[in-house]
Amino acid sequence: MTGEDTARKGIILAGGQNTRLYPVTLAVSKQLLPVYDKPMIYYPLSVLMLAGIREICVITTPRDRAQFENTLGDGSQWGVRLSYLTQPSPDGLAQAYLLAEEFLAGSPSALVLGDNLFFGQGLQQMLAAADARDPGGTVFGYRAADPRRYGVLDFDAQGRARGIVEKPEHPPSDYAVTGLYFLDGSAPGRARQIRPSARGELEITDLLQLYLDDGLLTVETLGRGHAWFDVGTPSALLDAGNFVRTLEARQGLQIGCLEEIAHARGWIDADRLRAQARIFAHNDYGAYLEGLLR
Ligand code: G1P
Repeated sequence: MTGEDTARKGIILAGGQNTRLYPVTLAVSKQLLPVYDKPMIYYPLSVLMLAGIREICVITTPRDRAQFENTLGDGSQWGVRLSYLTQPSPDGLAQAYLLAEEFLAGSPSALVLGDNLFFGQGLQQMLAAADARDPGGTVFGYRAADPRRYGVLDFDAQGRARGIVEKPEHPPSDYAVTGLYFLDGSAPGRARQIRPSARGELEITDLLQLYLDDGLLTVETLGRGHAWFDVGTPSALLDAGNFVRTLEARQGLQIGCLEEIAHARGWIDADRLRAQARIFAHNDYGAYLEGLLR
């Protein structure tokens, strides 16, 4: 086997009707809406790139696929390979592994939800550690003020995770499972074992529970120095945008700048970066890319 065959592949799940954001999402996919100065999907894509992943499949709805292709293209401008699949109906996050089974071809994967933003010191090291864990899987827990809206971790007396419950009325802990899942090559096979939940979906939490039951799931917690956003409502969209704007304005550093990551990793050369900067000439994003060349 060559290195290519075992390299971790990425999946961005950007499906769903996003009715919670109606009327904004009547004609536009949520994951293409701006989070301050870039499309939402740039942020989860940047996380996969920071994890060193270069082969990535974007799962969208049939309605929105062309818009994603127009926005992101084939990924060559960032030195990655993007491909697209559609999820005809929103039958659950775990369905992504069934849809992408052929794309994954047995490789380990990192699935990130297209509306999740991660930021924080040391994130790249955590991603590298998660990437190195194979077989098995890694999820990231985050303390949430209202865990009932998420998949929630249940810990035993020793502080080890023993269960994950989807949107529980009585959360067993304050720790939500974020929308970033590093799983080994057995994920599609395991996804085939789970059955739709009461709400008719193949739940990601049921898939993770299979890993937990086999002692194969590592839970990393993101501490106080980390920001995690799950952008599902108008207020969350505004909060995430304000967060990005505040940090970028204070530091003069971009969050989720795909060209910067690609250039730093040596995936694109200066000419490619310059070509990108030219596309965005006369705005701050282009000026930032120009700055990277100096
Ligand atoms: C999904 C998952 C949930 C997870 C959350 C993170 O929920 O089902 O387990 O905690 O993403 O964003 P959704 O936001 O799709 O309702």
